[in-house]
Amino acid sequence: MRPYVLLVASVAALGGLLFGYDTGVISGAILFISKDFSLTTRLQEFTISVVLIGCIAGSAVAGTIADAIGRRLTLLAAGVIFLIGALASAFTPDETILLVGRFVVGIGIGFSSVVAPLYISEVAPAKVRGALVSLYQFAITVGILGAYFIDYVFAGRGDWRWMLGFALVPSLILIGGMIFMPESPRYLFRRGHDSRARDELNRIAENPQDSIHEESSIRESLKVKSSGFAAFKVPAVGLALFIGVSLALLQQVTGINTVIYYGPQIFQMAGISSNTASILAQTLVGTVNVLLTLVAIFFVDRVGRKPLLYIGLAGMFLALTTLGIAFAQPHLSGSLGTIALVSMMVYVGCFAFSLGPIVWLLISEIFPLPARGLGMSISTLANWVGNFLVSQFFLTMINKLGRPLTFWVYAALCVVTILFIRAMVPETKRELLEEIRVQAA
Ligand code: BGC
Repeated sequence: MRPYVLLVASVAALGGLLFGYDTGVISGAILFISKDFSLTTRLQEFTISVVLIGCIAGSAVAGTIADAIGRRLTLLAAGVIFLIGALASAFTPDETILLVGRFVVGIGIGFSSVVAPLYISEVAPAKVRGALVSLYQFAITVGILGAYFIDYVFAGRGDWRWMLGFALVPSLILIGGMIFMPESPRYLFRRGHDSRARDELNRIAENPQDSIHEESSIRESLKVKSSGFAAFKVPAVGLALFIGVSLALLQQVTGINTVIYYGPQIFQMAGISSNTASILAQTLVGTVNVLLTLVAIFFVDRVGRKPLLYIGLAGMFLALTTLGIAFAQPHLSGSLGTIALVSMMVYVGCFAFSLGPIVWLLISEIFPLPARGLGMSISTLANWVGNFLVSQFFLTMINKLGRPLTFWVYAALCVVTILFIRAMVPETKRELLEEIRVQAA
């Protein structure tokens, strides 16, 4: 792979850093914000979830915008939106501006969650596309861990403004970087800028033959004239949408954000009672999340998407089942904390090399070029809706169903996901984007 391609993908992946940082930072900051603004429980919950509402709004429009003004400018816009949101939240005089700022940050995350994987998959050579899109997930996990760390650093002084404001740093790097990045050659062909598109293809392809072959496949795929919602009437494209939306939802309803957002609370339920110990345990989980994403980067183009998904989901199933069994034992108190910690590390680790990166990768791969922006937008929207529902109802589920059953519900959904992937998802390893075809297996 050319170093140039790695540079382009890495800059775009910074969108993931902001995604991770901004969704992770609030868990620590909320403790101090609530005190400063004397928030009721309702308002506390809303301060946390307003970001997700922004993400839903941002992802709903991002694909259409990326098709109209280009991938590069949309990602640049995401950086600017983040910057405005982060500034407003950090300098807010009151709770209302804070809510507006967090909503704006959410729009930025929504934009980048659609466009960063889309852009990376369109500039990546087929052989390394999996690894490069997984870089985006890697950046998300680094952002989450970075947020835990920054929360920890500023917790002593209770300085939530610094916690929220720190997001300025990655947004400035994203903006600075994207100014110098090229437009996606696929987008350029679609808009009829053929000679610029060809130059870009030559800069990223490994040899001239690859670039000629790629150009003819792109041209072929552009012969399908229908675009917008009409494109989904073509059965194969409609099926791609069904697969994209389902995968995006399944990534959430298998429960990952119960651990990412509520980890310290789960540890406390398991008897790790001190705040410091539960935050430390959460940091360990965050570190496992980062490290195991590297497994996907190394293997996703070698062994393929589906084998990694099967292994990861099987591990997630076992970890959740164990966690449920442990919570069902009344007399386990001594070792419950350790079992919970190990199960959650296994669960997050298995997600990190499977459902985490590979869902973003697959939804950026399965749509033909004329439907890619919109298809990716709708799938990502489903992902954020799933995220919102799981994070809103997790504590209610624990109260109504009890701890064991709650975790077993997520375990059962892992089995559903495995069956869905077996039946519906194509293996896309090393295939040229335009040659990927979806059909029920
Ligand atoms: C998911 C997020 C999750 C993160 C955890 C992403 O792929 O979309 O919802 O918080 O992984 O690493």
